Amino acid sequence: ETLPATDAAPASLSLRLREGTRPEHEQAETTGFVEKLMGGELDVAAYTDLAAQQYAIYGALEQASAQIRDDAQGATLVFDELTRTPSIEKDLAFLVGSDWATEIRILPATEAYVARLLEVGTSLSAYAAHAYTRYLGDLSGGQIIKRMMERHYGLGPDGLAFYTFDEIPKAKPFKDVYRERLDSLDLTDEQIAETVEEAKLAFRLNSALFAELGAIHC
Ligand code: HEM
Repeated sequence: ETLPATDAAPASLSLRLREGTRPEHEQAETTGFVEKLMGGELDVAAYTDLAAQQYAIYGALEQASAQIRDDAQGATLVFDELTRTPSIEKDLAFLVGSDWATEIRILPATEAYVARLLEVGTSLSAYAAHAYTRYLGDLSGGQIIKRMMERHYGLGPDGLAFYTFDEIPKAKPFKDVYRERLDSLDLTDEQIAETVEEAKLAFRLNSALFAELGAIHC
């Protein structure tokens, strides 16, 4: 029996991630904290608090990267040029001072995000979901955030190393390669569905963090 001609080919993982997380992206992008930070209504302290949370989050994400690269498929998603932890450390040293490591405070929403990364981050589908959510976001909306932080709070390049990918001169071709790598993973339908679900969760963990930052800074 032939399939009806109207049956669309199954969408690629990268497309399913983009489409599947569209509402969650919209939600994250329009939280009060993000809108006010982007609109210049907050201050460097709010940006610094976000950077501190990202220090913990990328610590866990990049610990997962170091492990998943031992897996042949996992290795295709790990790019040294994406590594953000050293950049965040530089930003915090500038924003907080040399004692930044003992000065920063990790919020409960961050602890929950980190716990999820430590729990599932070394499974291929979960790693793909979390790495996609953060790194493609940093290379997309992150570049807009960088410009707004320069404009409103007089930051940069000191303090904005996180958003500066020295080894990725053009985000677009890099993101295309990253999406090809996602689409080349050998995943079952079930694993693909799991990846999309985990990416939605990753967005919600980010939104929960913005809500907590908003309660403090807005
Ligand atoms: C993509 C803006 C927040 C994750 C994009 C794109 C824009 C954008 C314009 C499309 C770029 C392109 O087509 O190449 C923004 C703005 C934000 C924001 C203005 C808030 C200030 C976030 C957050 C996350 C995120 C909080 C997740 C933590 C992503 C991801 C993509 C993306 C994963 C890639 C979508 C895809 O092509 O598959 N963002 N974003 N964004 N953003 Fe955001």
